[in-house]
Amino acid sequence: MRVARLALCKILFSHLSRMHRPSASRQMSIAAGLKNSSIFQSQGLIGGKWIGAYNGKTLQVNNPSTGEVIADVPLMGRRETNDAISSAYDAFPSWSKLTAAERSRCLRKWYDLIMSHKEELGQLITLEQGKPLKEALGEVSYGASFIEFFAEEAKRVYGDIIPATLDDRRLFVLKQPVGVVGAITPWNFPLAMITRKVGPALACGCTVVVKPSELTPLTALAAAELALQAGIPPGVLNVVMGNAPDIGDALVTSPQVRKISFTGSTAVGKKLMAGVAGTVKRISLELGGNAPCIVFDDADLDVAVKGALAAKFRNSGQTCVCANRVIVQEGIYEKFAAAFSKAVQNLQVGDGFTEGVVQGPLINEAAVQKVESFIQDSISKGAKIILGGKRHSLGMTFYEPTVVTDVRSDMLLAREEVFGPVAPLMRFKTEEEAIRIANDTNAGLAAYIFTNNVQRTWRVSEALEYGLVGVNEGLISTEVAPFGGVKQSGLGREGSKYGMDEYLELKYVCLGDMNRK
Ligand code: SIN
Repeated sequence: MRVARLALCKILFSHLSRMHRPSASRQMSIAAGLKNSSIFQSQGLIGGKWIGAYNGKTLQVNNPSTGEVIADVPLMGRRETNDAISSAYDAFPSWSKLTAAERSRCLRKWYDLIMSHKEELGQLITLEQGKPLKEALGEVSYGASFIEFFAEEAKRVYGDIIPATLDDRRLFVLKQPVGVVGAITPWNFPLAMITRKVGPALACGCTVVVKPSELTPLTALAAAELALQAGIPPGVLNVVMGNAPDIGDALVTSPQVRKISFTGSTAVGKKLMAGVAGTVKRISLELGGNAPCIVFDDADLDVAVKGALAAKFRNSGQTCVCANRVIVQEGIYEKFAAAFSKAVQNLQVGDGFTEGVVQGPLINEAAVQKVESFIQDSISKGAKIILGGKRHSLGMTFYEPTVVTDVRSDMLLAREEVFGPVAPLMRFKTEEEAIRIANDTNAGLAAYIFTNNVQRTWRVSEALEYGLVGVNEGLISTEVAPFGGVKQSGLGREGSKYGMDEYLELKYVCLGDMNRK
């Protein structure tokens, strides 16, 4: 443990000194913070105990900015997952029987601890995921907000009394926790995608086995350590990582797991959905998007540029709600393309710890190769690169923020999620055409429109086949609003009061013989 912490600090020091850019005092404070950190963990959590893989195998966690190894974590599989499920199953009766106020207090304490360790968690996110520190700190607040919100919602799980159809009966609806939840989370938000699932699950009285991405497990483990410190009892929250197919399969096929919540690729989501059929368990899926960002002639140019920039380049384009197609009306197209490219050109690329950097590396080499293949495909079909279009001179997995024009619907850039810093521009003439292009996809997560016309705002928002619509705004995620997609972007909603329903069963109780004296 101590060795792992020291290794982390050493790596951080060497990494910072090679970058030469952050100030010396900044380097000192980052390293000192992590050195004294009480949150760093590099083992799995089962039944309240930190443990390694049963066969002793480990896997490396790398810094995507430098390639350096940050830590080794256990390469767990089916056996460890089954034990984690058993510990969650055993913890369920007592956790679910606590009063809502008791569970709420635990969650509130967890929230407070996350916020009081915001700096260290932000640094861990930047270290293992690569996003700029400012954005990582934003993720900590965003992630914590789900715990705070659901700590409050725990107290508002109301049932119902239904007017009876016979006078000797009384009809009730109870809401009860579904049971053990398997939460499978992605690397692009190492904290927030966990808290968005675990917050409501725990608030409802469920217990959880989390499988974070193998690329970013350290933030998940730190969050779990804080959950223990907050007094969340052993077994209520478990974390396993390693062999993803084996862990996923154990969660999906176990009759003790009553619900799967997954955020990740559409391909994996489909497999999980097929897998849960065997045990008929509930599943919510937050899958890939192909977000249109429609800029109408009547939009305010500055608002549209700022909004499209935020929607496209958040986390270097690596979010499911990132604008994937910027669809611009012909009257404003040239002006928008020029102003947007200028803004994109100003985005500073670099290591996430460097002051002023707003675009970090992509998560790994495969991600860069995917971007390259999409760019190649678009060029071969007649698109034009007006900015970027290649790997960044920093090397590693850094890619230049890119703007591509003359993109058509048959190009990969328009058909699939690029998950990188590439903005493809498409042109349209009429509102009907914009809606047709926007809906011409199997995905349906987020969409953005920029217009100053109120009637159009309503018309287009209603016509878009998407779960979320941003109007004159590129950053719309919040803990208080429902997040989720339609079509092949998923099932169910996370966040908000609706997010609780995913973890609750309705039970109808009919009380008879009421007229007996
Ligand atoms: C995601 O990319 O899956 C989540 C993005 C968000 O919460 O805004």
